Amino acid sequence: MSVPKRATDVPSWNGILPPSMKLPFIDTPDSVTYNAMKLAELTPDPRMREILVGLVRHMHDFTRETSITTDEWLKGIKFMAAFANQRQPPHIEYMLLLDVFGVSTLVDTINNPPVKNATASDVIGPFFMPDAPDKENKDTIVDDTNGIGKAEYLYFEGRILTTDGQPIPNVSVEVWEVDEEGLYDLQYESRDAPNGRGRFRSRADGTFEFRGVVPSAYPIPLSPPLESLMNAWNRHNMRAAHVHFWVKAPGFRELITQLYPDNNEWVTTDGVFGGKRSLVINLKRVDDKSESEKRGIPGARRSTMLSSTSCC
Ligand SMILES: [Fe+2]
Repeated sequence: MSVPKRATDVPSWNGILPPSMKLPFIDTPDSVTYNAMKLAELTPDPRMREILVGLVRHMHDFTRETSITTDEWLKGIKFMAAFANQRQPPHIEYMLLLDVFGVSTLVDTINNPPVKNATASDVIGPFFMPDAPDKENKDTIVDDTNGIGKAEYLYFEGRILTTDGQPIPNVSVEVWEVDEEGLYDLQYESRDAPNGRGRFRSRADGTFEFRGVVPSAYPIPLSPPLESLMNAWNRHNMRAAHVHFWVKAPGFRELITQLYPDNNEWVTTDGVFGGKRSLVINLKRVDDKSESEKRGIPGARRSTMLSSTSCC
């Protein structure tokens, strides 16, 4: 009789022996939790142990408190499996899942507590791309060769300061935002070149400036599993209008944040729980054509300016 060949992807024993401690048979719900906790407590790496112990405790508490049924357990497994099979890369899907639960923002707020005089942080979101082109101050980040459709021009003037108010020169300020359609460049089928992105450098006095479009609120892209979750939750999937910033300077903590124009109806129910009060900024409408042209706004279009300061 021939021994069947093992397929290479069939899991095999990982070589770890049972622990020497005696554990009870699993006869009750409490003994499942007891044994799972005991095994988690044996995790060699201290940080991994802390995370696994907490995860087991909370997962078991959650399961017990909500009396999850077998059908619901299976539904949950199918829900998670569906995430791995979406058109978007899985890392975007899973990030969005954590985003809509507020977990991404929670991680950010825990890791970046407020610093006096510093601009608050915000989540990076799934639409960052590392290929933003280097730009000169006053350059545009949007391709407006065919106009900007229904959007308005935005002219942003910012200044990078230390928390005690000293300007920081040569700081890398990476910016990204949606285009006039409310879409990031990577949401299009073809993406020949980055659009809506740019990397600027602060001048000697800490200032930087660029041209873009006034951001619009946009819907978080919903894959079928995420859509089913949001609908069951009766929650909208809109993100409040914002512009993303990633500020980096040697010797300083990096700042990843977003700024939200005021009169932003979605900001307090933002789909990913972004939008701290201090990140809401006032846009100043500018109708003066000469002011617009001075800032490189094509034609007689109305420009919109905003100013803000950021510390890193
Ligand atoms: Fe965004």
